[in-house]
Amino acid sequence: MSYSVGTLTTFVMPHMQNVLGDLFGGELMALVDQAAAVAAIRHAGGPAVTASIDRVDFRERIRVGALVTCAATVDFVGNSSMDISVEVYAEQVSSGEKRHTHTAHVVFVAIDAEGKPKRVPRLVPETEEERARYNRAEAHRGRQT
Ligand SMILES: CC(C)(COP(=O)(O)OP(=O)(O)OC[C@H]1O[C@@H](n2cnc3c(N)ncnc32)[C@H](O)[C@@H]1OP(=O)(O)O)[C@@H](O)C(=O)NCCC(=O)NCCS
Repeated sequence: MSYSVGTLTTFVMPHMQNVLGDLFGGELMALVDQAAAVAAIRHAGGPAVTASIDRVDFRERIRVGALVTCAATVDFVGNSSMDISVEVYAEQVSSGEKRHTHTAHVVFVAIDAEGKPKRVPRLVPETEEERARYNRAEAHRGRQT
């Protein structure tokens, strides 16, 4: 499980802002999607597409100039699908203050050369924390079906 992660870090630039001077929600979702893609492609060992973004919790606003980090982990897999959670942190670099601003849940599906769903390797939780994430994601999937 520790192999199947994706991290993306970027400065929030002026072209990414909304009318209030904060990071635009659509830009945040693109960053979340990209970080999740890294985790999914790494786990699948090949291409994968976004199947659904079933939840994004916007806990706090992020100001222009902040350093944003999106940390994605594959928490559970089916046959070709991967449940991925993404935690977003914003840091004011000058002060070092770092805040947990967003949490998202995304499903990616691995595909073959024809764009058809392709089986992914099973996920092996090793640590206590990984087992907890795996169990939470499995329960979440159970509630969806
Ligand atoms: C996602 C996609 C590959 C699924 O193909 P499909 O032939 O409909 O897939 P199936 O119904 O056979 O399901 C395949 C898997 O995808 C999962 N899946 C399909 N649609 C899903 C959805 N909306 N949300 C979550 N999982 C989904 C299924 O549960 C199944 O999981 P499993 O293999 O682990 O059991 C296809 O719908 C697609 O290419 N969509 C467009 C993706 C895209 O353009 N993304 C944005 C750019 S990356």
